[in-house]
Amino acid sequence: MKRVIFAAALGFFALAAAAPLPQPGTQFHSLPAGTGKQQTEAACLRCHSADMLAQQRLTEKQWTSAVEKMMRWGAVVTDKDKAAIIAYLSKHYGPDNKSFVPLKTKTIKK
Ligand code: HEC
Repeated sequence: MKRVIFAAALGFFALAAAAPLPQPGTQFHSLPAGTGKQQTEAACLRCHSADMLAQQRLTEKQWTSAVEKMMRWGAVVTDKDKAAIIAYLSKHYGPDNKSFVPLKTKTIKK
């Protein structure tokens, strides 16, 4: 039985290796220039890309709560940087944020 599973797994990986890889054309968002950019990059881009920030449309109150949640999850933010980060995010990614362009993917051509 084990041999059958092993052979099936081998077959699957052989097929997967032969198939062409998708070309996602990944383009990550970069943070716009401005006061607080440096602190935001240092504190917020350790675990995820700037896309996670750029796709939000949050009020200052909501950004405060998001930053505090990330601090509970392990983001290292000093009191001084916290205010700068919240101000930066509220300014660039507030409720009227239209800057985010979703990732474009390409289909595989056979
Ligand atoms: C210790 C790792 C870590 C750091 C540092 C971090 N985040 Fe996150 N963040 C996460 C994880 C994990 C998720 C959930 C990812 C997912 O759902 O795919 C997340 C998700 C988010 C989301 C999406 C909404 C949500 O609540 O899930 C926002 C907004 C966000 N982070 C903002 C920030 C900001 C602002 C900072 C900087 C102050 C930051 N993050 C720093 C780990 C981190």
